[in-house]
Amino acid sequence: MENEGLMDKILVLNFGGQYDQLIARRIRALHVFAEIKNYNKITPDEIRQAGYRGVVFTGGPHSVYADDAPRCSAAVLSIGIPVLGICYGHQLLAFLAGGAVMPAESGSEYGRTQLTVKENVLFSGVPQTSVCWMSHTDAVQTLPPGFSAIARTEHCACAAMADDERKLYGVQFHPEVTHTAYGTRVLENFVFRVCGCKGDWQMDDVAETTIRHYREVLRGKRVLLGLSGGVDSSVAAALLHRAIGDNLVCVFVDHGLLRKGEGDFVERTFREKFGLQLVRVNAEARFLAALRGVTDPEAKRKIIGAEFVRVFEEEAKKLGQIDVLAQGTIYPDVIESGKGDAATIKSHHNVGGLPEQMAFSGVAEPLRDLFKDEVRAIGEALGLPRALVWRQPFPGPGLGVRVLGEITGEKLGLLREADAIFREVLEQAAPEGLPNQYFAVLTDSRSVGVMGDERTYGYTVALRAVTTDDFMTATWTRLPYDALELASSRITNEVKGISRVVYDITSKPPATVEWE
Ligand code: XMP
Repeated sequence: MENEGLMDKILVLNFGGQYDQLIARRIRALHVFAEIKNYNKITPDEIRQAGYRGVVFTGGPHSVYADDAPRCSAAVLSIGIPVLGICYGHQLLAFLAGGAVMPAESGSEYGRTQLTVKENVLFSGVPQTSVCWMSHTDAVQTLPPGFSAIARTEHCACAAMADDERKLYGVQFHPEVTHTAYGTRVLENFVFRVCGCKGDWQMDDVAETTIRHYREVLRGKRVLLGLSGGVDSSVAAALLHRAIGDNLVCVFVDHGLLRKGEGDFVERTFREKFGLQLVRVNAEARFLAALRGVTDPEAKRKIIGAEFVRVFEEEAKKLGQIDVLAQGTIYPDVIESGKGDAATIKSHHNVGGLPEQMAFSGVAEPLRDLFKDEVRAIGEALGLPRALVWRQPFPGPGLGVRVLGEITGEKLGLLREADAIFREVLEQAAPEGLPNQYFAVLTDSRSVGVMGDERTYGYTVALRAVTTDDFMTATWTRLPYDALELASSRITNEVKGISRVVYDITSKPPATVEWE
């Protein structure tokens, strides 16, 4: 149930490099839709049937001759659609087409390198000499039959090759990085001149075409979506609702670990504004019972995740026959889950995650080709409130990982109030320059304070605000002292039971964004 057959599209076949997303984004910036698949997740037949206009092989850290080298079938070259191999992809193309790849005689090349090109459609508008970005150890030593070298660098005689007849191209350098002066021109030449794409893909069209597509494929089917109130599941819900109306049922499990007012806001938005079929399950008591006495962070995460799936399944059963499960999976989720072997730092739990043992005849993931900013653009186009579309990330286990130690209703109540105050203060102090994520944490330690003439003994709240692009690394945000002071005095004055406020000045690494 993917969004196929809707527009010109390019397949970015990923061989394990870090550049796949960048390549896809560069192509999308040319108004041509590009989607990434792992090399072992699509067959030549599927590529043919999906109607791609062209395929890009990405770079990757391997040597094509290694036993465990990622390789696609050579049949991809005979489908009749153009191929552009980049870096490892260039070497793989040479290998699959019958050429030879070996460690470069003059050693690895890394960094900015002078590139000299010959006349070729791929280099239309590229000067004879310019700067490119190289990063390789192996090189194409013998060209495959039918190919000729169309560029060189000082140490690499085959910095690019072409078989114009079969429309197969390879470049050893990285056209997707900005260090390659004419990189965008090379990608442009490939998608427009070689593949014949039109460049008429627009974000606005995506919402409309996706809605039309799902109206067609989900006709007469009942669809269930787990709504968390996060950006992704909210946009998926709004899109599918436009497509199939009341055949979409959303289940919103309120685990009692949401921020102040959040559950009601989600319910109001979807039930009243969108008129969506929404089942809200108020399950706070059940989650608190399952979490009673548990203090270990990983145990808490696992309990919340498992309980969530259980509640979701129970509700789904009550709804009777459901044909399709819909999910708000977005592109980075798809890619990350394919990459796999990184050590688990924290077991991430996504509310709305697919319960594995449930029986559905299909899964619909209307956002699985889109990046976060694209999902937000669609959300705005569909009229979702800004507070939802531009919501800062909020972890699936919610406040469960922000109340340190045992979770109780009382502690959750304190945290909700303190967190709401902190967010309000920052939103008023710097509405245009908010940190990427900002929230309060209720620590498990209490300290002595004084209020009026009374001794107090209350909890310590930690405030956290981070600045980051990707949440993989983050720095603590240099918040104005005035805002910190206002947050501190309001929290200690307005929230009985909190007697001290501290600000977390640890970056990631070594700390993580969340405390648990
Ligand atoms: P950490 O704490 O790992 O967080 O540095 C990085 C980003 O991920 C969010 N986060 C989660 N998101 N389920 C989620 O959907 C989770 O279990 C989870 N844990 C952390 C965190 O809020 C930050 O944005």
